[in-house]
Amino acid sequence: MSNIKKFRIKNFKEKKSILTLNKISLKFGRKMILDNLDLKLNNGQILGLLGPNGVGKSTIFNLITGLLSPDFGSIVINSKVVNKYPIYQRTLKFKIGFVPQYGGYFHDLTVYENLKAIAEIAIENSSFRNEKIDSLISKFELDPIRDIKAEFLSGGQKKKLVIAIALISDPKILLLDEPFAALDVMTIKTLQEIIVKLQSNNAISIILCDHQARDLLACVDTAVIIHNGKVVAQGTPTSLIQNIDAKNAYFGDSFKIS
Ligand SMILES: Nc1ncnc2c1ncn2[C@@H]1O[C@H](COP(=O)(O)OP(=O)(O)O)[C@@H](O)[C@H]1O
Ligand SMILES: [Mg+2]
Repeated sequence: MSNIKKFRIKNFKEKKSILTLNKISLKFGRKMILDNLDLKLNNGQILGLLGPNGVGKSTIFNLITGLLSPDFGSIVINSKVVNKYPIYQRTLKFKIGFVPQYGGYFHDLTVYENLKAIAEIAIENSSFRNEKIDSLISKFELDPIRDIKAEFLSGGQKKKLVIAIALISDPKILLLDEPFAALDVMTIKTLQEIIVKLQSNNAISIILCDHQARDLLACVDTAVIIHNGKVVAQGTPTSLIQNIDAKNAYFGDSFKIS
């Protein structure tokens, strides 16, 4: 495992939680997806959610953004229960940014037009809006592809664009749904560096998920294993891979990081 994260913050127990899911349960039809799930993101932390396909990772993000409501339990951001707040208020008032696994951009618009379209909704002042767009284009090195339609971008360029779009409204919490899926090794490394810089330079707290561990563990402070609708193990990457519950539920016996 190439270690992108040089310094892992281990004293999060003393830190303030920015986002908490309290005893969340959710069924789809008769199928229990989340069962009394507790999850806590500390201020300034990068937290990884690990679990096989279909375990409920995207569902957790959909609950946080307001796309879904839980049957039971509360979602707390900065000490305020947000269950009743609609999606746009979770974005603008509670500062949630979301990078979905698929899509998240307008296929038919250029990189610049995509950023402009969202910035026009999120930022009223036009000079501030233009400054924001320019700074994101430069931060993510999108200048050479600024006038290319999003549908023609590579997988990594699309992912950078969607992260840039999510940053327009200055999120304090960023959710990334399987950001490394279907990307090559070098692009994954670039994205891991971007994610770690968003934490260290922009003070953004981050949750990312993946169904496979290696790329995720390289860039998180802490990760949790989701199994049967619950968090069954959590810890730093090195402690988690030795955790017996994590091995039983997810890693198996032979998983190693080198
Ligand atoms: N809108 C929905 N209606 C019914 N079942 C759903 C819906 N969304 C997801 N599911 C089911 O819920 C489970 C969890 O899905 P998901 O959160 O997408 O898993 P993951 O992201 O971990 O792969 C899966 O079994 C999936 O088929
Ligand atoms: Mg998913």
